[in-house]
Amino acid sequence: MQTTATQTLIDISKLNLHYGNFHALKNVSMDIPEKAITAFIGPSGCGKSTLLRTLNRMNDMIPGTRIDGKITIGGADIYSKEVDVETLRKKVGMVFQQPNPFPKSIYDNVAYGPRLHGIRSKSKLDEIVETSLRSAALWEEVKDHLKRSALSLSGGQQQRLCIARAIAVGPDVLLMDEATSALDPISTLKIEELAQELKDKYTIVMVTHNMHQAARVSNQTVFFLNGEVVEYSDTEKLFSNPRDQRTEDYISGRFG
Ligand SMILES: Nc1ncnc2c1ncn2[C@@H]1O[C@H](COP(=O)(O)OP(=O)(O)O)[C@@H](O)[C@H]1O
Ligand SMILES: [Mg+2]
Repeated sequence: MQTTATQTLIDISKLNLHYGNFHALKNVSMDIPEKAITAFIGPSGCGKSTLLRTLNRMNDMIPGTRIDGKITIGGADIYSKEVDVETLRKKVGMVFQQPNPFPKSIYDNVAYGPRLHGIRSKSKLDEIVETSLRSAALWEEVKDHLKRSALSLSGGQQQRLCIARAIAVGPDVLLMDEATSALDPISTLKIEELAQELKDKYTIVMVTHNMHQAARVSNQTVFFLNGEVVEYSDTEKLFSNPRDQRTEDYISGRFG
């Protein structure tokens, strides 16, 4: 289906995460290739969102969370003391299950991050807004009413707006946590196509409870169970020839 990127961007090594005394991620290690789509699959509650959140330190905001092990992005340890978390989140953007645009205009949603990071020039902001909306495959639909409220858009458009908002600050990585599960099938396909385009520029990590989606769009798939990585490999290989019986059982629909 796709060619496999070989360069590792994100390196997760012996990662453990506890919520209080609950051991949510158990000794997780993996490499995530640059400019490709990696999908996290597995039954509900197995730790997919938890791992995704560790990649931009969203877990820092959850009290009682403890983490050990190491995550590097582009060789830099993202949990080292020198890391500025705001800068990290600019580089590692996130899109959630429910589209969550700000109750502001379409334009202001996309310009929000760049303004926060100090860009004031109107022409520069216009340019970023247009480029980001184009990248998110939304420009043609909204270019004539950028001043309209983002909340007037459909769910699928709102989700593409959230992708544009993430892109506007110049990330390297886009995290998507079940970003299509609140959308209708046509909007879902649009986001899947968009992800395929975006992977030429960005490293994408997506959580999906939909195995077919993982099979359709990802280059690499990681299968989780009870906080552990059971296996990960090229998507085609994982679905056609899994190494572990538990993976086989899951992808053939025996549980989950
Ligand atoms: N903030 C939290 N506090 C305590 N436990 C949590 C928290 N978030 C998730 N968990 C628990 O961690 C496990 C993994 O959750 P999660 O990463 O959301 O799974 P998934 O995304 O695979 O459905 C679940 O058992 C869940 O109940
Ligand atoms: Mg989840």
